[in-house]
Amino acid sequence: MTTIYDIARVVGVSPATVSRALSGSNRVKEETRRKIMETAERLNYTPNYLARGLKKKKTDTIALIISDVTNPFFTNLARGVEDTASRYGFNTIFCNTDENQDKEAAYIDLMLKKMVDGLVISSCGSGKTLLPLKEKGIPVVLVDRKIERFRWDCVVGDSEGGAYALVRHLIEVHGYREVGMLAGPAAISTSAERIAGYKRALSDFGIPAHPDFLHIGLYKEDFGYRMTREFLERGKIPRALFAGNNFIAIGVVRAAREFGLRIPEDLALVTFDDLELASLLVPFFTVARQPAYTMGSLATQFLLERIGGGKVREKREVVLKPEIIIRHSCGCPEGKPLP
Ligand code: RIB
Repeated sequence: MTTIYDIARVVGVSPATVSRALSGSNRVKEETRRKIMETAERLNYTPNYLARGLKKKKTDTIALIISDVTNPFFTNLARGVEDTASRYGFNTIFCNTDENQDKEAAYIDLMLKKMVDGLVISSCGSGKTLLPLKEKGIPVVLVDRKIERFRWDCVVGDSEGGAYALVRHLIEVHGYREVGMLAGPAAISTSAERIAGYKRALSDFGIPAHPDFLHIGLYKEDFGYRMTREFLERGKIPRALFAGNNFIAIGVVRAAREFGLRIPEDLALVTFDDLELASLLVPFFTVARQPAYTMGSLATQFLLERIGGGKVREKREVVLKPEIIIRHSCGCPEGKPLP
């Protein structure tokens, strides 16, 4: 197989000059470039794509790291990333960590080996797994979840404001004074911010935080199910619940049904992240719907600017407001009850 060293020897220039000519650099004399291109064609030179990647440090590929590909929130976010990347000629590798930091670290190691040009990351950790990317200066944009220790661009949702609006609705419109919360992992920024919004709403309405009404766990259906069963087995469940995300809310519904509780008549419920398709059939959940597609698209645009060498000095942080959609699960007449 012909290499750039063969071309260099025939033309009488250095391999670096051949590499620059082949990658379109303007730092090669026109006459020299012509000779190099003619020789490359005559010797049937086919660039080793990855070798070129090694030289140009570009593989026209980015990676997206998310934590739960089965969640419509991340599916929509991933669609925004992939649509934007492909519009600019980039491929996207999807990595699903399942909220597992060991998996995240393994994926980051693999993406470094594959020499992706950059990454869009909704991390399941507090940043330790991302250090190799920082050390190697790989372009990264954080999406959905902030990690303050890194000065990378980030595009997130307003979790504190969305949580405040949901809990305020339960208190101000429905008069509920016993409002509990089942939150995702406290180390994740979206969960910490939703807890802060929940507490701010209670405080603004003079409602003391009940020591047993806030539980912190996982963004998983099973966590919502187990905690609701625990409330009910103890015979002490708040009149209203704020579930930190859609999967937790589904777990609450499953447990309530097993105990013969009706939502919202016996237990009002609000949550984050709409289940669009389900809501088309049964518009039930009162929800803070995050603009996940836009989050992914904007994060990818920021990343491609960095990859392209855009001289953007400052760290850019964009916070997108969720849409509060009032339906039946909080007790409002809008929407429909679950069948
Ligand atoms: O469903 C997973 C949750 O974690 C979403 O609400 C999203 O904001 C992410 O942080």
